[in-house]
Amino acid sequence: MLTLAIETSCDETSASVLDGVSVLSNIISTQLFHSKFGGVVPEVASREHLKKIIPVTNEALKDAGVSLQDIDLICGTTEPGLIGALLVGANFAKSLSVSLGKPFVPVNHIKAHLYSPFIGNERIDFPFLGLIISGGHTLLILVEGLFRHRIIGKTIDDAAGEAFDKAAKLLGLGYPGGRLIDDLAKEGDPEFHKFPKAVIKNSEFDFSFSGIKTSLLYYLRKHFSGKLPEGDQLRGICASYQRAIVDMLFEKTFRAAVKFDVKNVAVSGGVSANSGVRGRFGEMRKEDYIILFPESEYTSDNAAMIGFAGFLEYSSSKSDLAGLSVHARPRIDYENF
Ligand code: KG4
Ligand code: ZN
Repeated sequence: MLTLAIETSCDETSASVLDGVSVLSNIISTQLFHSKFGGVVPEVASREHLKKIIPVTNEALKDAGVSLQDIDLICGTTEPGLIGALLVGANFAKSLSVSLGKPFVPVNHIKAHLYSPFIGNERIDFPFLGLIISGGHTLLILVEGLFRHRIIGKTIDDAAGEAFDKAAKLLGLGYPGGRLIDDLAKEGDPEFHKFPKAVIKNSEFDFSFSGIKTSLLYYLRKHFSGKLPEGDQLRGICASYQRAIVDMLFEKTFRAAVKFDVKNVAVSGGVSANSGVRGRFGEMRKEDYIILFPESEYTSDNAAMIGFAGFLEYSSSKSDLAGLSVHARPRIDYENF
């Protein structure tokens, strides 16, 4: 069964072809020019998706060695994301579905991240604990079965990726900042400065990342009075800041793993590419935990994860998904996740 998947929820235009659970092609076109604005400009992103969606889809079909007429299933991201950007990909995917007479599966982008560590696998071992760490969301989810999700923790303010991006801006590094901080942190001393870890009253598994960013802002004002840190100081700040974020993610996740007695942990989203996250979580393999990460091309936004999640949903669903009547929505619906 051949699936064509489309993703346009933020600043990546992506199309992918899958044969069952195997990815045949995954084309990602990233809109790099947003970096000069220090963040994604929604209207500009939508217009760029319009320009790119057909060439990117054609490339995905060509790369997979298939034609549009061979496709059996169409999947597209319908939520959450920038509404204008979502509308381009979702409506393009729906139009293909109507013109080819093939079913359309609407896919939740965050659910797609959640299952991305399993791309290519015929079998998923349940239960697992999913930690999704992206630019807009931070969620800890107990996955009891396929699409049986229990949200046990989420951020009460900024997402983990946002904490990296905002710090990079304060440090004059550019956007998006996660990878830039990660690269500097690799060469820095994580003991350089102790950033405070958030304490959240009455909530065991929720996260908070706005305090650490504010703490960095005050630290820079106090010690660098308007100038930007450089050299070892910059590397030390990045390493210390990254360590504090990784510690917060790690401690809550493993407290939850113990409490819910789950040995399988799957970490996903853009921040799952972080070397500190991979190192710290990976150490738990010594304690008999199974720690899964997506392959690097599936950490950031990509259509392969949309196709994989959509295919899982389609093949496990007994009823008609009535996908064409599902509209694009900017926000995540936590109640029905
Ligand atoms: O999942 P994603 O591609 O997009 C969203 O759905 O939001 O995540 C993007 C986020 C950005 O905040 C980016 O700075 C962060 O992932 N990121 C990283 C790394 N690579 C990307 N954060 C830390 N370390 C990295 N190596
Ligand atoms: Zn994402």
